[in-house]
Amino acid sequence: MIINRLIAKNWRNFQQINVPLRERQFIVGPNASGKSNLLDIFRFLRDIVKVDGGGFQKAVKDRGGVSKIRCLAARSDPEVRIEIHIADTPGAPTTWRYVLAFRQETRGYRRTYLTEEKVYKKNKVLLDRPDKDDKEDMDRLTQTFLEQINMNADFREIVQFLRDVTYLHLVPQLLRFADSIQGRIVEEDPFGQGFLERVAGVNDRTRRSRLRKIESALKIAVPQFEQLEFIRDEITGRPHLRALYSHWRAQGVWQQEDQFSDGTLRLLGLLWSLLESDSVLLLEEPELSLNLGIVSQLAPLISKMQRNRRRQVFVSTHSDALLTDPGIDGTEVLMLAPAKTETTVIPAWDIKPVRGLLEAGLTVGEAVLSKTGPEQAEQLSLLKWD
Ligand SMILES: Nc1ncnc2c1ncn2[C@@H]1O[C@H](COP(=O)(O)OP(=O)(O)OP(=O)(O)O)[C@@H](O)[C@H]1O
Ligand SMILES: [Mg+2]
Repeated sequence: MIINRLIAKNWRNFQQINVPLRERQFIVGPNASGKSNLLDIFRFLRDIVKVDGGGFQKAVKDRGGVSKIRCLAARSDPEVRIEIHIADTPGAPTTWRYVLAFRQETRGYRRTYLTEEKVYKKNKVLLDRPDKDDKEDMDRLTQTFLEQINMNADFREIVQFLRDVTYLHLVPQLLRFADSIQGRIVEEDPFGQGFLERVAGVNDRTRRSRLRKIESALKIAVPQFEQLEFIRDEITGRPHLRALYSHWRAQGVWQQEDQFSDGTLRLLGLLWSLLESDSVLLLEEPELSLNLGIVSQLAPLISKMQRNRRRQVFVSTHSDALLTDPGIDGTEVLMLAPAKTETTVIPAWDIKPVRGLLEAGLTVGEAVLSKTGPEQAEQLSLLKWD
């Protein structure tokens, strides 16, 4: 399935969003323009339905409450609203629509309660809240039906889909030193600390097939890289990945993941995640610690992996190299344009001057990124630090 439209109101630094979404969607904008905030909308929906410790109240609380979520520029409108449209396949008409709106009580316990929850399947209304029961018992409005197993039977399909949304902001150090840090893994493991456990957790056949695909991608991207294998430590039983590199010696040398480069680890995590499920993958700045040559290959690599698994991918990025691939079209890029009090979100193709440049044959990277740098960026280099 694919989320083909996002409509939102008063979410963080966005007062209004209404954009179509593609199977591969890049999100570009200067620092603090809201790229992570935008991705957080999908994490928020995921947090509502997740199996362990999910729920609407917790998802709001984890974000510091409605006062932190609601757009500061919202002024008199107290409501936050999210609507997503879902199609069965890219290009197909919308099958599902899910709407969620909420606000905070102005008095008393200042609880967060729903002002709207709706589900449509092909224009048929499956859920329309607040209903009669809700009006008689306001407490019911502190929970979504999305999160309640005995209420969501008619739309379990979208619950499952949202549950599998994955956010990845892989930090190679955390993965490399997972054993020695032994720290608490953050819920949903966004930083990839438990990556090896995830690789270990699938059955042998699936793992072999995924590692083979990853191996062929890494062979292109990482010099001297030959082979990738999954092993278990004989004594501790801990899972590891090892790679055969052809440098140093004639027969090559096996190295374990703690010796892989940051870029190799990031690519590994990214490629594995692309093959992991059918739901949305949210990738934060995948270009970090990768050299320009590989960054420029990321977009086609994502497409190639999507052929194996039709996983929708949202990528936040600062990198023009990532957008230079001529295969990216102007509707695959969302531009965040911050103004004084809020940010607007526009597909690059809908911006006239950008469209002109694209039609003149420039790549999206060339056409778009000249427009996203902060105006003050040049002044930064003039600052004196002494
Ligand atoms: N409720 C809110 N109302 C208005 N603005 C908000 C709200 N919550 C957060 N923000 C603003 O959102 C901005 C941060 O956005 P975000 O972290 O998504 O940026 P980003 O584009 O991911 O930046 P970077 O490229 O640095 O990662 C901050 O400037 C913050 O002040
Ligand atoms: Mg960010």
